[in-house]
Amino acid sequence: MEKKLIAGTMRWGSWGAQMSTQQYADTITQWLECGVNDFDLANLYGDYSCEKEFGKALKQLDIPRASVSLISKMGIENPSEERGNSVKHYNYSKEHIVNCAEQSLRDLQTEYLDVLLLHRPSPLLEVNEVAEAVSDLISSGKIRSFGVSNFLPEQIDWLGKYVRIEHNQISFSLNDYSSMENGHLEACASRALNVSAYSPILNLVNASQELNETLDVLSRKFEVAKATVSVAWILKHPLVASCVIGTSRIDRILEVRRSLDIDIEPQDYFKLWEAARGTRVP
Ligand SMILES: NC(=O)c1ccc[n+]([C@@H]2O[C@H](COP(=O)([O-])OP(=O)(O)OC[C@H]3O[C@@H](n4cnc5c(N)ncnc54)[C@H](OP(=O)(O)O)[C@@H]3O)[C@@H](O)[C@H]2O)c1
Repeated sequence: MEKKLIAGTMRWGSWGAQMSTQQYADTITQWLECGVNDFDLANLYGDYSCEKEFGKALKQLDIPRASVSLISKMGIENPSEERGNSVKHYNYSKEHIVNCAEQSLRDLQTEYLDVLLLHRPSPLLEVNEVAEAVSDLISSGKIRSFGVSNFLPEQIDWLGKYVRIEHNQISFSLNDYSSMENGHLEACASRALNVSAYSPILNLVNASQELNETLDVLSRKFEVAKATVSVAWILKHPLVASCVIGTSRIDRILEVRRSLDIDIEPQDYFKLWEAARGTRVP
C-alpha cells in the first residue's frame, strides 16, 4: 500500500492560524512542493469559512484541478443563528447532504469533490436518505467517491448495505490507538476501506515521560522531530493508508514530510507502543 500524507485545513482559519488568502496559497504551495496534493477540508472548519478561503487561494494559484485532490466532510451543525441551529447536532437528510456538497463546490470554486465524507455518525441517520443523496451526487459528477469519518464497523456495515463506502477517517495517534487494538482497522480493511488517521500529533503535548523519552531516542536515531517519528509510527501500520496532518507552519510541513522516508523497525514499533500503553504488551 502506498503511504501518503494529507494536508488538514482545520486550523488554517479562525480555529487556529487565521491565515490570509495569500497564506492559504503559500501553504497549499508548500504542501504541493512536498509532493502532498490531498487536502482535507470540511464545510464547518473556521465556522464555515475555510472552504471559501481555500477556494479563493486555489483560484489565485491557478493550478490544474486534477493536480489536487479535495476531501470535504459534512454533517456537523454548530450552534449558529445564521444557520438556524440552536444546538450542535448532525444532519444527514438527503436535502442537507446535497446542499452542503453543492455549497462546498461553490466555496471551493470547483466542479467536483474527490471525496465526500459524513463527518460523524448520527443516531438519526436514515440510510435511504444518505444513499439517495450520494447516488445523485455521484451520478451528477459532483463527487467522485464517498466515505465516512468516526464510524464504527457496525455503523459502516449498516450504511454500506445501501451505499458504497470507500473511506473511513479516524482518530489515530500514540495517544489514541484503540482502533489498532480492538480490531477496527482490520474491520475496515476487510470492507476494503481506505483508512486515514487524523490528529496524529496533537495529544503528544500531554505524552508521558516514558513516551517522550522513547520518542527522543528515535528522533535522535533518524534526526527528525518527535512529531515526525509519531507520524511514521502510524504509517508503519499495514492497514493505515494516510495521516491527515494539521500543522499550518511551513517549516513543520517540510519536517513532517520526512515521516514518509522513515521505516520504523518492528522492535522500535513495539517500544513506542509499550511506552504509549505505559505497560508491557501481553
Ligand atoms: N474527521 C474528523 O473528525 C477530524 C477531526 C479532527 C481533525 N481532522 C483533520 O485532521 C487534521 C489534523 O488534525 P489536528 O490538527 O488535530 O492534528 P495534528 O496534525 O495531530 O496536530 C497538529 C498540531 O500539532 C502541532 N505540532 C506541534 N509540533 C509539530 C510538528 N513538529 N509537526 C507538525 N505539527 C506539530 C501543530 O501546531 P502548529 O499548527 O503550530 O504547527 C498542530 O496544532 C485537521 O486539520 C483535519 O483536517 C479530522
